[in-house]
Amino acid sequence: MNTRRRTVLGAAVCFAVLGTGLSAQAQDVLNLYSSRHYQTDEALYENFTKETGIEINRIEGKGDALIERIKSEGANSPADVFLTVDAGRLWRADQAGLFQPVESAALDAAVPESLRHPDGHWFGFSTRARVIYFDKATVKEGEITSYEDLADPKWKGRICIRSSSNIYNQSLMSSIIAAHGEAAAQEWGKAMVENFARNPVGGDTDQIRAIGAGECDVAVGNTYYFVRLMTKPSDKDKGLAEKIGWVFPNQGDRGTHVNVSGAGVLKNAPHKEAAVKFLEYLASPAAQRYFADGNNEYPVITGIEPNPALKSLGDFKADELNVAIYGENQPKAQKVFDTVGWP
Ligand SMILES: [Fe+2]
Repeated sequence: MNTRRRTVLGAAVCFAVLGTGLSAQAQDVLNLYSSRHYQTDEALYENFTKETGIEINRIEGKGDALIERIKSEGANSPADVFLTVDAGRLWRADQAGLFQPVESAALDAAVPESLRHPDGHWFGFSTRARVIYFDKATVKEGEITSYEDLADPKWKGRICIRSSSNIYNQSLMSSIIAAHGEAAAQEWGKAMVENFARNPVGGDTDQIRAIGAGECDVAVGNTYYFVRLMTKPSDKDKGLAEKIGWVFPNQGDRGTHVNVSGAGVLKNAPHKEAAVKFLEYLASPAAQRYFADGNNEYPVITGIEPNPALKSLGDFKADELNVAIYGENQPKAQKVFDTVGWP
């Protein structure tokens, strides 16, 4: 950039800063509010600082708690970027008016359209699939191939899945609504509840463990939980993964339900320029490796392979419904859960 342009830009930034009444904000710092915490994150963030000279201050917490925090900080929030999991949760943050639209040709080119907000309020940077697990001793390969199959009465008393307060299930139900409409989704939910092996309890890993314990024959959970059980089982989970089969559902029609880890620039971001640079960095090949591997997720950009353990689950066709729909359908999904009595 030549000196003249830099001066003009500098003047514009100063003017904008004076206009908001804030003290001058140099763009060499980025305040990241994140519900993510993995071993590979140190390298992920250090490389950004190396590339750009921008230091990252991290505030870590649970996704919904961070949303509340940013809300209560209001116009004075120091938060530049909010990073969390599940499009349904990103939608909640957006509903609360926390994000601002980002126009970036680099992001639009790198992140598939189905994995970002239509107006750039947030972007997905890795994906996870919500798949069906089964007991290899009691369920035959090919016996269950779709989410719709879970509603078959043959599974009565045999399915484990977590509660409806869980955002992953809310997004899954939202996708069922998108595929079949509310009435059919209600039928599906009702049949699911009838097929429960037990009242929903625990997280995704607990559903898989329940197969191992003989409590159920079929379970639903995100891919990274299973990869963790395969590659880094705790002492009590040793040998569990070997007993479990998995299915990428709906390969014959719309594809498997996928969700994102994603981020957006906050409406009151003091360092907007740095924030956009950071999102663009997350979609770069170097960052995608670290970002996806931190939690055994699928990179979103083309040309970057999933890590070997995740890849060993096999290739699959993903549902290309825009993940923003999971949020839009969330109130309807909640209504279905309430109606069918899915705790
Ligand atoms: Fe999770």
